[in-house]
Amino acid sequence: MDPAEDKNLDYQQGTISTVELHDSIRRETSLHPGGSGSVGLSVIVVAALILIFGGGHLFSTSNGFRDSIYVSENYVPAPRPSIGGDDAGAAQVAWIDKWMSEGKKVYNNCIACHQASGLGIPGQFPPLVGSEWVDGGTKRLGAILLHGINGPFKVGGQTYNQLMPAWNNLNDEKLAQVITYIRREFGSLPEGEDGVVTTEMMKAAREEFKSQTVPYTEAELLAIPADAQLSGAKVNPETGEPL
Ligand code: HEC
Repeated sequence: MDPAEDKNLDYQQGTISTVELHDSIRRETSLHPGGSGSVGLSVIVVAALILIFGGGHLFSTSNGFRDSIYVSENYVPAPRPSIGGDDAGAAQVAWIDKWMSEGKKVYNNCIACHQASGLGIPGQFPPLVGSEWVDGGTKRLGAILLHGINGPFKVGGQTYNQLMPAWNNLNDEKLAQVITYIRREFGSLPEGEDGVVTTEMMKAAREEFKSQTVPYTEAELLAIPADAQLSGAKVNPETGEPL
């Protein structure tokens, strides 16, 4: 028998070749069971090129992954819808509250002598609480704050003999705020009086008392009527608008 015929018993029948059949089985078994055969060099080179060019392209076009490329400079966010209707008014504080809190800040200049409580230091610095000068009209206070006092000076029957410094280096607004603060915080205001001194009033006071160059004496201050008020319109304490 011919060896080819020996290998292929079906040869003569002309059906499928057993050699070819076994060739495919040999090829299958030569593959690694896990399927991870070694990768050809060409595949590694192609993958490396994709990584290098792809990475380079991403680097040059990604804007460093910052989101600013999506943000238009002229973008204006739409106003947020208000919760429960008109809430704008509720968030705003009344003008007088702001004026008082600013006045309290200016009063920091005064606490070394008159104390945060406004009670002063007995025998040295007079109290603002219960003082006839604070409870009286705003004109005397404007004069005192702008030019100071040279003692002896009587407050509540007590004589003080020091120097109350001039505060005319503070602007009209700050002086108006601090006088408002001491009147409302430490004074006892007449019925219906809100105690507010405005910037315009202090501006007028600065003009009126501009000839004064040294601190006032007690006699000079007593010459101003106790109930005299600084000129200027009263304001609505909610809005600060002149009445
Ligand atoms: C360095 C201490 C000192 C400082 C700071 C000072 N004062 Fe005075 N103040 C005096 C003295 C002292 C008198 C009493 C008059 C005197 O002896 O010359 C006085 C008197 C007064 C008076 C009139 C008397 C009274 O007790 O009501 C008022 C009002 C006043 N000061 C307000 C102020 C305000 C407001 C400030 C801050 C902006 C201020 N003082 C800062 C020392 C001071």
